[in-house]
Amino acid sequence: MTYIRETCGCCDCEKHCGALDIVFVIDSSESVGMTNFTLEKNFVINTINRLGSMASDPTSPTGTRVGVVQFSHKGTFEVIRLDDPSIDSMSSFKTAVKNLQWIAGGTFTPSALKFAYDNLIRDSKRARAKVSVVVVTDGRFDPRDDDSKLRYLCDDPNVVVNAIGVGDMFDKEHDSETLVSIACNNKNRITEMKKYTDLVADNFIQKMETVLCPDPVIKCPDLPCKTELAVAPCVGRPIELVFLLDGSERLGMENFGHARHFVEMVANALTMAKNRNDQNGARLALTEFGNENENQVAFLLTHEQKAITSGLSGLHYLDASSAVGPAIFKTINEILGKGPTRKTRRGAEVSFVFITDGITNITNLDEAASAMRREHIFSTVIATGSDVDEEVLTTLAMGDQTAIFKSQKFSDLLQPSFFDRFVRWVC
Ligand SMILES: *[C@@H]1O[C@H](CO)[C@@H](O)[C@H](O)[C@H]1NC(C)=O
Ligand SMILES: *[C@@H]1O[C@H](CO)[C@@H](O)[C@H](O)[C@H]1NC(C)=O
Repeated sequence: MTYIRETCGCCDCEKHCGALDIVFVIDSSESVGMTNFTLEKNFVINTINRLGSMASDPTSPTGTRVGVVQFSHKGTFEVIRLDDPSIDSMSSFKTAVKNLQWIAGGTFTPSALKFAYDNLIRDSKRARAKVSVVVVTDGRFDPRDDDSKLRYLCDDPNVVVNAIGVGDMFDKEHDSETLVSIACNNKNRITEMKKYTDLVADNFIQKMETVLCPDPVIKCPDLPCKTELAVAPCVGRPIELVFLLDGSERLGMENFGHARHFVEMVANALTMAKNRNDQNGARLALTEFGNENENQVAFLLTHEQKAITSGLSGLHYLDASSAVGPAIFKTINEILGKGPTRKTRRGAEVSFVFITDGITNITNLDEAASAMRREHIFSTVIATGSDVDEEVLTTLAMGDQTAIFKSQKFSDLLQPSFFDRFVRWVC
């Protein structure tokens, strides 16, 4: 409740982009690779995060609707439709995007563009909506595909196409031509970048925001403190949120207290599951890590506030050195569980939240990060202080800079501006 009280009055205004349909067409071929594919998905999520609210009803004539086509070889297209009635909020959209699996086949970009138009755009267009298509490709499309289809979207005057080319392929004249064709010869609508990580860079996301939503309307509520405006986050799907708290001496006793308070606030702000089999809502767990053999599980995955509160109050500050790798393995084994003793709910999104400055023993860190990847764990890093180890933080965040939340002072974690952003992100 404190969370609601603190946020209202300042940040309840919503941004509206008008009647807008956005279709992302992202490359899911072998040559992109798993990590880069995840970056493409994060690019989609981060961009949409910036655009404010989504249409709550896909048949309504106004509001933003978003669709995604991921493509690989001929006939393998996976889609999130613009008019999917189950996509009625940012969080259902995020879940759908996170669930897209890397296809890892050949690259049929021209066919994918035709597919996007014929299946998503043509029949679900709304009368006055603008349609923007964003195509991400590494440019290596299969020569057996029909390259005249690269311009398939250009025949419709209501559709605007943005083409993003990633990788070194675009140094060659020929491949730049591919991008120009996709963007219907409009050179202002092509972007070439060297690395997939550039997709999620802040300044690029900001640019996309302006391209897709050039004239936003900001709507603020009349009464700044209506409680129903504070939408309870993490509703409608199962999420297992596991905190890994660095208990090293660098933290200090006072910050240790702040960290406990922060976790308690998260437990209060999220919609928790009603019982261990509830297919909706969040459950939390927390491990504090110190030296290799000195990890303390404060509480296993639970939906009960009582278990969380008593787990936190029983947690003592380790005040030693720390090693994050072994803590990750222990958390996977003991908190998530394996095979028949699996403790996570079926289909649940598992999220690890590291609270650390990254200055920790890095033995087995890469192996631990690979294990997280195998387990399809989403990772978020809360990095505190000015003296941090960027490389370790990046590894923990599995290469995604946008998953790293920085704050100079530990107490900032408790501020609405930080807290709110964090809750929106994990939900
Ligand atoms: C990911 O993309 C980068 C370029 O951004 C490339 O160097 C790297 O090889 C790709 N990774 C995989 C696994 O293909
Ligand atoms: C890190 O941990 C490993 C394994 O416990 C240990 O052998 C090594 O000495 C530690 N490194 C540092 C710098 O403490």
